[in-house]
Amino acid sequence: MRHAAHFLRLVALLVVAVVGFLFVRSKLVPQDFGVKGHFRLSAIADEAAREPRHIGSDACAECHDEIGNAWKAGKHRTPQCENCHGPGLMHTKVVAEESTTAYPDRILKIRLAIRRPTGIVECKWCHLRTFERPSTLKSIANVADHINSHTGTFTKDSKCIDCHNPHTTVVTVNAKGVPVPPKIGP
Ligand code: HEC
Ligand code: HEC
Ligand code: HEC
Ligand code: HEC
Repeated sequence: MRHAAHFLRLVALLVVAVVGFLFVRSKLVPQDFGVKGHFRLSAIADEAAREPRHIGSDACAECHDEIGNAWKAGKHRTPQCENCHGPGLMHTKVVAEESTTAYPDRILKIRLAIRRPTGIVECKWCHLRTFERPSTLKSIANVADHINSHTGTFTKDSKCIDCHNPHTTVVTVNAKGVPVPPKIGP
């Protein structure tokens, strides 16, 4: 009989633990969890309601029409403005003097909240030859060799935009056929 008491106490403890667990779980798990699968159904609506940080090149071109037109007509119309400049939402809010307080973001620390690309680092992301890159994308094997072989002189301060306009890729040359820095802004 004394052994049965031990057993009943153990069962009682187990029941309390299970009921306690189910109670806490019912309080913590959101009501719409598991309706369609192993997730919270309203999470879809929450995500869809978030404002996209990328606004697209057409939106940039609405204000920067001259650069937008040059970009569309040139060989660089495949990479998008935001591939080089980063997401543009904060920038449009800053220039339109709209509130950005709801968006804590390190981008806000940059002037006008838009990245001014270096004119070399981001070019190398796409154009420095590696075996993974598609062979259809024109690439350069070595920065110093490329610059020196196009009448430039490579130094540690050299940039691709010393010769190439980043928005059109066009190289401007002087009367002697030597590349000169392009005019980038309007
Ligand atoms: C609502 C209009 C508007 C839109 C949309 C807009 N910009 Fe601007 N942008 C401006 C204005 C105004 C300036 C400031 C011009 C000045 O001070 O000379 C500016 C400046 C810039 C600068 C220079 C920043 C600097 O530090 O000098 C860059 C780069 C730029 N914009 C890129 C973009 C890109 C990329 C997009 C799209 C993601 C974009 N802008 C969308 C209005 C806009
Ligand atoms: C996000 C990727 C990306 C970045 C960053 C990028 N490019 Fe490009 N670039 C391309 C693509 C893609 C093309 C080819 C476009 C096509 O053929 O439709 C191209 C084309 C070119 C061409 C023309 C090649 C030819 O066909 O004659 C030059 C030159 C060039 N880029 C230089 C640059 C320079 C300089 C920079 C930096 C300011 C740069 N690119 C940054 C993707 C990129
Ligand atoms: C000293 C000037 C100069 C500099 C600096 C320079 N380029 Fe060029 N690049 C040229 C010239 C000139 C051409 C020949 C084609 C042309 O006129 O567009 C060329 C062609 C290219 C091409 C096309 C290659 C092909 O196979 O047709 C790519 C891609 C390119 N450059 C990328 C870059 C990148 C990336 C940088 C920076 C790392 C850079 N260039 C820096 C002058 C320069
Ligand atoms: C391949 C990379 C690349 C792409 C794509 C690109 N930009 Fe740029 N952009 C640059 C670089 C590099 C600079 C020059 C930074 C400098 O001069 O210090 C620049 C400068 C600018 C400036 C400042 C011009 C000034 O007057 O100083 C504006 C505005 C701008 N870009 C807008 C755009 C817009 C709009 C698009 C798309 C239509 C675009 N960019 C696409 C690389 C890019």
